[in-house]
Order: sequence, then structure tokens, then C-alpha cells
Amino acid sequence: MPLEEIFAFHEQEVGPVRFAEPFGGWVATRYSDVDRVLTDHAVFSSDELRHSTQPVPHGSNPLMNSLLATDPPRHHVLRRIVSQVFTPRAVASLEPVITAKVHALLDAAGPDFDLIGEVAYPLSVHTIAGLLGVRSSRWPDFVRWTEAITSFFGTFTADEARRTAFDRALAEMSAFFREESERPSGIIATLMASDLTEDEVLGFCALLLINGHETTKSLLVNSVLCLASRPKPADLRRAVEEVLRYLPPTGGTDRFVTRPTTLGGRELQPGQRVVAMITAANRDPEVFADPHTFDPDRAANPHLSFGHGVHFCLGAHLARMEVRIALAALLERSRRITDLDTHRTPVGIDVVKLALGAATSVAGIC
Ligand code: HEM
Repeated sequence: MPLEEIFAFHEQEVGPVRFAEPFGGWVATRYSDVDRVLTDHAVFSSDELRHSTQPVPHGSNPLMNSLLATDPPRHHVLRRIVSQVFTPRAVASLEPVITAKVHALLDAAGPDFDLIGEVAYPLSVHTIAGLLGVRSSRWPDFVRWTEAITSFFGTFTADEARRTAFDRALAEMSAFFREESERPSGIIATLMASDLTEDEVLGFCALLLINGHETTKSLLVNSVLCLASRPKPADLRRAVEEVLRYLPPTGGTDRFVTRPTTLGGRELQPGQRVVAMITAANRDPEVFADPHTFDPDRAANPHLSFGHGVHFCLGAHLARMEVRIALAALLERSRRITDLDTHRTPVGIDVVKLALGAATSVAGIC
């Protein structure tokens, strides 16, 4: 698939709030509507089990007890348990370790390497596993579990094959965390010392493991795609923010209406699902000049790729730093990222070949 088509996939129409059957709910695309859904947690709840009037196919699992699926005041209690680990200062202290890891991965990768399998995944998994206090050696399992779990969450309907894969992945992941908690360290030790139930600890670990690596891997790969064939950006921080806006690793997130309300002129009823389309909001011309242009020097960039409000991404500082360090190392080892060649593999992954100076790399689109 040519790169232009991949980028065009993100060009969703920004317009009025509409009801969409495939989502079984409302879809918000304008920046102002998406922002309201994310920030007005009293009206737009994250607690699907409590507020959805539709059956919840993925109902009985520890993730439904996690931070992400909880509203204040319980949400504040849960978030406070781990928030110290993810402050800008705590994250900055990890910089030397992450830098060393990036260079070790690139040294080991050789001239021909797979950006996803040899750098992006191992880096993001190693980092979050280290913080959690679990072994990272089983990272291919983490990737498989994450794929099975997130693809079931993303379907909105009960699909038997996906449900089976989801159940199996969750059982394997739970067994892994139980084993690891026999010698607790890192965040697991902190969670076990709090008054959370075993299921809540499990939900927390699963959330951090899943959110902590998949999206960061995607941001690194998407950054390489966006920066390919361009001069090195003057300001890497700014460039990464623009990648976040232009190709966000998380396309959208959903909420459940708690009381009758109006959104973008439409009447919404309690229990209805609302999907906040981050991808679309990030391209709203009311907020972003020339929104479909990737501009690594874009100055004002209030994208919603890490969400907004009480659920604002806990790992945002960490993800930004990991990707910035990895990109800096990739750019340091090459004059520019050039010669992209994309094609679709039989398993449906878009593979991108690119030359990093003399070296070639293969990346998959996420
Ligand atoms: C929440 C995106 C990396 C942990 C979120 C949300 C978004 C997001 C959009 C809000 C979801 C909602 O409001 O429903 C991203 C992106 C990342 C990234 C794009 C990488 C580029 C990470 C990392 C961690 C992490 C590295 C690891 C610690 C979390 C957690 C939440 C969250 C725990 C839930 C926060 C809460 O409910 O209070 N993330 N994330 N994320 N993210 Fe991230």
C-alpha cells in the first residue's frame, strides 16, 4: 500500500455528531465535541459496566476494574497509587537506561533489521516490564496477548473466535502476573502493598502492560514513516507531537452517557455509547491550520492523542521520551531516513522498507 494511502486512511471527515450502527452509538469527530466527551466525566462515563445499556461482551474481566474503566472519585484513588512512577521527574531519571537500551538494540540489529520486531517492541516492552517489575523475556507473548485482548475490545460485538482468543490471552496473562507476584518488585510490589483486591491488581498490571508498549511501539514506527525522506527535524520534540497529531496510535476512545444531554446539537440518552474520534479531532480545521499536512515544525499543537481530562494518559511523558531517544539514535546513525518501499504482506501487515543511511530496515504499520 503506498504511503499516501496509509496517510489518507486517517483523513476522516470532521462534522456533526452522528449515530453509527457499527459502533452501536454516537460518533463525535469535531475537536470541540471530542474534547467535551473526554473532559466532562460526570456526563460521559468510562464505567461501561455501570452505565452501558447494551450488553458488554467483554464484561467479566480484570480490565473492567482498571483505572481506564473507572470514574472519579474511585479513579483518583487508583491513579494516585502509581502516579509517582510516571511524573516528568521520575521519567527523566530513566533517560540513561533507555538510551543505553536503544543503542544496545541498534548495535545488535545489524545493517538489515526489522524496526518493529528488533527495536520498537523490545524497547517499549522492556521499559514497561522494568517498571512493573516483571521479566521482559516473554515479550512475544505480551504482544500476542495484547493483540487478542485489544482486538476483542475493539469489536463492539461478541465474536466467538475473538472471544476465545481473548479469554485464553487473559488467562495466560493472569497466570504470568500471579507467578511474577511471588517475588514482587517495582509497580507490582506497590500495588500489592495497597488495599486493592487480587482482581484489581491484575487489571492494573494488564492495563499498564498493554497500554505501556503497544502504543509506544506504534508511535516510534509512525514517526519513522512520517519523517522518512525528509530532512532531520529542527526540533525533535515538536516533530514527535506532530506525529502524534497526524498519525495517533490510539484512534479513539469511548464513553457512556450518564444523563440526558446535548452534544453537537444532538439529544443523547443515558446508557448510549459515544465514540470520541481522536483521529478526526486532530485534523479539525477549526483548530489546526492545513490539518492534512504533516508539518514537523507546527508550533501550536493541542492534539488529543493522549486524551484529555482525568484519564489523560498516565504514560505520556514516558512514551514521548522513549520515542524521542529512539528517533534521535536512528537519525544519528543515518543522514536521513530515505527510500521507502511499502507493500502489503499475505498476513495483511503493511511492510515498509527504508534505508537508514547505508542500512535497511523493515517496519510494519500499526
Ligand atoms: C490512557 C494514549 C502510552 C498508560 C490513555 C488515553 C489515551 C492514551 C488516548 C486515554 C484513554 C481514555 O481517555 O479513554 C496513549 C498513547 C501512547 C500511550 C498514544 C503512546 C504513544 C502509554 C504508556 C503507558 C500508558 C507508555 C504506560 C504506563 C496509560 C494508562 C491510561 C492511559 C494507565 C489510563 C489513565 C487513566 O485512566 O487515568 N493513553 N498512551 N500509556 N495510558 Fe496511555
